Amino acid sequence: MIEIVELVKQYGGFTAVRGLSLTVPPGAVLGLVGPNGAGKTSTLRCAAGIIPCTSGTVRIAGVDMARDPVGAKRHLAFFPDEPRLFDHLTVRQHLNFVARIYGVKDHEPLGAALLAELELTEKADALPGELSRGMKQKLAIACGLLHSPKALFLDEPLTGLDPLGIRRMKDSIVARAKAGAAVVLSSHLLHLLEEVCTHVLILKKGEKLADGTLAEVSSRFSNGEAGVSLEEIFLRATADRDDAAPAAR
Ligand SMILES: Nc1ncnc2c1ncn2[C@@H]1O[C@H](COP(=O)(O)OP(=O)(O)OP(=O)(O)O)[C@@H](O)[C@H]1O
Ligand SMILES: [Mg+2]
Repeated sequence: MIEIVELVKQYGGFTAVRGLSLTVPPGAVLGLVGPNGAGKTSTLRCAAGIIPCTSGTVRIAGVDMARDPVGAKRHLAFFPDEPRLFDHLTVRQHLNFVARIYGVKDHEPLGAALLAELELTEKADALPGELSRGMKQKLAIACGLLHSPKALFLDEPLTGLDPLGIRRMKDSIVARAKAGAAVVLSSHLLHLLEEVCTHVLILKKGEKLADGTLAEVSSRFSNGEAGVSLEEIFLRATADRDDAAPAAR
């Protein structure tokens, strides 16, 4: 379970996230969408304890991030848009290192299964400098999943992957949710989000414009039309009043 209550994030005098609340139960996948600069990455970083919240509460599997950051982080994995890896550790050494940090016992079979799932087995002895961009991303994902987190935060995880990689990543996210993880996923690839997410939250200028199941959010912006895509919903929800057609003003 991921619970965020009244999250505010300010950078100096600038407010990037304005009192955002959301709850993601086990098994749910929330798509966090919004225009560039809406506050998606800021929200994910605060929720994962990477940067401090200015105010508000984050609880991961019931553990309060401010009171017990190590306890909360034990239950989560955060996947940044740019994977950060250790230049001098091989793929296998990354997994060994992460297993030690998180105290994962008998991690080798799980690590091998993750490398196979992400098609990295052949690269087990390669250094990050010898991997393609997508492979680096997959390695970061293997590292993040090794401790079987209950909460997953993914920032633009599909960018840079090939079509098969995207499909595998989608399957992998859905499989983790089915196994009981709560997932928050930010992406601009709305047609792909539609296939993975159970819920969606539309953010603009740090404020929640709408959230709910895909069907609930669609019905709010579809004006009774059937089969309106998430992309169209996004455009309608985030359009500035000035963008609206003159007749609609
Ligand atoms: N470290 C920082 N210092 C100052 N301002 C920041 C910082 N990080 C982000 N911001 C500002 O906060 C706002 C939200 O940024 P954020 O990266 O959360 O947006 P985003 O929704 O992830 O956008 P994108 O779709 O482009 O990834 C932006 O106006 C950005 O300029
Ligand atoms: Mg971002």
